[in-house]
Amino acid sequence: MKTILDISILINFLCFGIVYGQNYNVLNFDAKGDGQTDDSKAFLQAWTAACGGDGDIKTLLIPSDKTFLLQPTVFQGPCKSSSIKVQLDGAIVAPSEKVAWSDPISRMWIKFSTVSGLIIVGSGTIDSRGSSFWELNLKASQRPTALHISKCDNLRINGITSIDSPKNHISIKTCNTVAISNINLFAPETSPNTDGIDISDSTNINIFDSTIQTGDDCIAINSGSSNINITGINCGPGHGISVGSLGAGGAEAKVSDVHVTHCTFNQTTNGARIKTWLESSVAISNVKYVDFRGTSSNKNAITLKCSETTHCIDVVMDGIDITMANGGKPKVNCQYVDGESSDTDLMRDCFKNITSS
Ligand SMILES: *[C@@H]1O[C@H](CO)[C@@H](O)[C@H](O)[C@H]1NC(C)=O
Ligand SMILES: *[C@@H]1O[C@H](CO)[C@@H](O)[C@H](O)[C@H]1NC(C)=O
Ligand SMILES: *[C@@H]1O[C@H](CO)[C@@H](O)[C@H](O)[C@H]1NC(C)=O
Repeated sequence: MKTILDISILINFLCFGIVYGQNYNVLNFDAKGDGQTDDSKAFLQAWTAACGGDGDIKTLLIPSDKTFLLQPTVFQGPCKSSSIKVQLDGAIVAPSEKVAWSDPISRMWIKFSTVSGLIIVGSGTIDSRGSSFWELNLKASQRPTALHISKCDNLRINGITSIDSPKNHISIKTCNTVAISNINLFAPETSPNTDGIDISDSTNINIFDSTIQTGDDCIAINSGSSNINITGINCGPGHGISVGSLGAGGAEAKVSDVHVTHCTFNQTTNGARIKTWLESSVAISNVKYVDFRGTSSNKNAITLKCSETTHCIDVVMDGIDITMANGGKPKVNCQYVDGESSDTDLMRDCFKNITSS
């Protein structure tokens, strides 16, 4: 009897150590992880404990081999520690039908706000089960974003997968210094507005080595964003990688220092785009398209349609090797573009000044 008692005390002590140390496992806050029970309260309690704890990195642990049902939930900072890690190894699912959402007009499902040094990492999945929203033909504004992150400086997201968001999968809003890598974002090609990553009012962003297959833009960069590097993205199906749409309703919009390199577009409606509103006079300058190679099923493979008042200035198109899937030569549409290209054959009609390399 004595031995058993000792062991039991030891086990209690170990559990105590795990719960109240650096790790906050949602199971220790009574999350069930059966995919049926609403675990939102347990997640919030674990978050409150992790966020309120002193010291260095705190880890909110969402363990593997479990499925946690979450209603729309806000993980609010600021937190006491300089960094909070969300170790997502298990699966998180939303209610399967829109009617079962606790807040059906919620603009987002999982939200993190004002958490500096937030790290979301792991091999886990968030599945927003968005199909019931798509089927109702709701406007984009009436459908939630899967993962909304705002005012989180020094943000890192790595390894996770997001499936079937009702609207865009990830929003990055008002964040400075962000690294997103090795993530997977999936939604059917036909699903509406299921952008992969939307960025707005954010700076110093690296997005790399990820797979994005959705029904809309793989990545969209919106107003107020600068110094953004995107590399090694496998995009498609989807609508490509876009800057904009800028200047809605004539509003001032500014995006600068965007580099998209070593990306693959497979079965996308577009490749790399800059979108502006027709009525606005957004100025576009210093744009380089270099070494774009591939095939297009659309005859209008290259379109540079710029504003008559501002023109597009300093545009360089070099190493463009695009053929039509049927072997034909694609059409290049240009309006009000000032720039140059060494591709005298394909880009001949686009620029008034062609430089020969
Ligand atoms: C993006 O790449 C450019 C050019 O290589 C570099 O100067 C800049 O610092 C990079 N930005 C980020 C956010 O890493
Ligand atoms: C493009 O996607 C299709 C279908 O998803 C796939 O079969 C094909 O191998 C991909 N092509 C490239 C070049 O990755
Ligand atoms: C063409 O290039 C010449 C020499 O660089 C320059 O002076 C002229 O302004 C350019 N014209 C246009 C329409 O870009």
